[in-house]
Amino acid sequence: MTDASRMPDRVRLGAVADLDELCAFIGDCRRCRLAETRTTLVFGVGDPGADLLFIGEAPGKNEDLKGEPFVGAAGRLLDELLGSIGLHRSEVYIANVLKCRPPGNRDPQADEIETCTPFLAEQVRLIDPLVIATLGNFATRYVLGTDAGITRLRGRLFEVDGRRVVPIYHPAAALYSPDKRGVLFDDFRRLATVMQWAREGRPVAPTARLSAGHEDWLEVFADPSGGAERSAGEHEADAGEGAPADQQKLF
Ligand code: URA
Repeated sequence: MTDASRMPDRVRLGAVADLDELCAFIGDCRRCRLAETRTTLVFGVGDPGADLLFIGEAPGKNEDLKGEPFVGAAGRLLDELLGSIGLHRSEVYIANVLKCRPPGNRDPQADEIETCTPFLAEQVRLIDPLVIATLGNFATRYVLGTDAGITRLRGRLFEVDGRRVVPIYHPAAALYSPDKRGVLFDDFRRLATVMQWAREGRPVAPTARLSAGHEDWLEVFADPSGGAERSAGEHEADAGEGAPADQQKLF
C-alpha cells in the first residue's frame, strides 16, 4: 500500500476534501524561509462556498498577529468597498498569494510564490468560485499568468478555466495614492455587475462589452495573455508581457 505521508504535496493536494482538511494538511508549514519570521500562518477567511473569491498579496503585520487576511488599514478599506456593493466579508472568501508575512512587508519572492501557491490553487478548486477578484500585481500576475501590471489590466474582465477574473488595484494602493480610491469604488461596482452576470449564467463572449455607461471599461478575453495583447484601443506592446505557455492554465 502507498504511504501517503511520503507522497509529494502536489500528489496529495488533489485528494484533500475540504478547506479544513487543506488547512490541516498545510499544518505548521516549514516549506519556505517565511516560517522563520512569521507569527501566524494566514490561511484565509470567509464562506467556503462563496461565489466570489478575493486574492491579495501576503499578510502584513496585523494579519500576521491575528491570523486573518486584511484586518489592517487596507482591510478596513476592503470592508468599505465590499459594503459599497452590499457585501460583508463573511459572504465572500479572502485569501492571499502567500500565507505567511514577508519580513518588513517586502515583496513576495518567486520561490516563495512557487512553494505556496499550490495551496491557493487548491483553495480555488475547493471553494469553486464563479468570480475571482485579484487585488494588486502579485495576485493578478499569478492568476492570469502574465507579467503585465495591474494599471494596465484593471478594468478588464478575463476568463481563466471557466472562472471570471477581475483584476483590481490593491486597497493599500489607495492608502498611498488617494486618487486610486475612486477607481477602486468604480471597479467594485463593475465587479458587482460581473457577479450578477455570472449568476445569470451569461456566457463570457470574446467581444462582449459591459452595458451603456461602462463603455470605458472592458473587453472580455478568453485567453488572458494573448487577449491582453490584442485588445482594442491598446496599441502599445509592453516589453515582457505575456505568459509562458505552462503558466497559462492555473486552476
Ligand atoms: N495585504 C494583503 O495583500 N493581504 C492581506 O491579508 C493584508 C494586506
